[in-house]
Formats: sequence, structure tokens, C-alpha cells
Amino acid sequence: MVSKKVLVLLSHPYLESSNVHRNLSQRLSKIENVAVRHIDQLPTKNTHFDAKTEQALWDEADTIILEFPMYWYHSPASLKQYLDDVLTEDWAFQNAYALEGKQLMVLTTTGGVESEYSANGEHGFELSSVLTPYKSTASFTKMKYIPELVIYAANFLTESELESEFNRIVQSVTELTK
Ligand SMILES: Cc1cc2nc3c(=O)[nH]c(=O)nc-3n(C[C@H](O)[C@H](O)[C@H](O)COP(=O)(O)O)c2cc1C
Repeated sequence: MVSKKVLVLLSHPYLESSNVHRNLSQRLSKIENVAVRHIDQLPTKNTHFDAKTEQALWDEADTIILEFPMYWYHSPASLKQYLDDVLTEDWAFQNAYALEGKQLMVLTTTGGVESEYSANGEHGFELSSVLTPYKSTASFTKMKYIPELVIYAANFLTESELESEFNRIVQSVTELTK
């Protein structure tokens, strides 16, 4: 059986003080055929990422996972800048569609609890609605958006709850390599 490659793009400006993503990304990086790239540590030129280098990595991957803590209902800024720089017209769309058929997934964590992410809840929307821009990005570039993986209330979980969430995520990401 041919294994599939997964590229995880981690956007987190405070990884040193992270309780969740520091640990989770380390675990993901140990899975065979999964590469984790912490985009905040990549070199930039005048704040821009090197599109050609990044595109070559997307070209090789079957699934791209965007991993980030939810910050004001978006990713942290580095992922937005990364996507602005990397998903260029001559490669991601127009007549090229280099990503056609690849899978795109979001892996995110929230401070808010799941029940607050609803039309009547504190956040006013379900999380899957908050993630609409990623679904549109997948659609526009002819990628297949696969359902997000979420750890809700991530900084309020006990150690054992977090451990079981990590195991769930590792298992799901491992499945993507098969
Ligand atoms: C600047 C900032 C904005 C945040 N915005 C949100 C938000 O919009 N919704 C939410 O549920 N949690 C929000 N949080 C909580 C983070 O999502 C949470 O702390 C993070 O997922 C925990 O992961 P970490 O330990 O790896 O940093 C925010 C936290 C920060 C620092």
C-alpha cells in the first residue's frame, strides 16, 4: 500500500508558552509520512514567505493540515500571511490548479466550550461556520475540504482529558497517511 503524505502547517506565535499545540505538534511530527512545519519560524523577506519553497512542499503532499489556536475567530496572523504569499494565481488557480484533488483540513483549538459555538451561544456561530474561509479556499483551488479536527476549551481540560484528545487527533491524522 502506498502511503500518503501529510503536511502540517502550524501557526502559533507563542509556541514556547503553549500548553496544547507545543505538545500536539511534537506528537504529530512523530507519525510516519507526516511533516510539521512551524511557519512562525520560517525565514521571510520583508514579512513575505518564499512561495516557491512552500509550493514545492504542497506539491508533494496529499493532505495539507492548517494547525492553529483560534485567535479572534481566525488563525494567528502568520497563517494568513503565509496563504496570501503561497497560494499564487499562477499556481493555485487561474489555469494551473496545482492543488486540485488534494485534501485540506483545519486542526484548531479553542478557549470556548463547544456549546458556546452555536447560533444562540456566546460566539454566535458554530465553529464550522467560523471556518468558512478555509472551505472557500479549498473550493476555489479545487481542493477537497475534509471536516476539521477541534479541541474545544483546550486550556481548561485536565491532563487526562487533554491526553485523550491528543490520542484522538493523532489517530485521525495517522488515518490520513493510509
Ligand atoms: C489573542 C488570543 C485570541 C483568542 N481568541 C479566541 C477566540 O476567538 N475563540 C476562542 O474560543 N478562543 C480564543 N482564544 C483562546 C485560544 O484559542 C486558546 O488559548 C488556545 O487554543 C490554546 O492553545 P495553546 O495552549 O497551544 O496556546 C484566544 C487566545 C488568544 C491569546
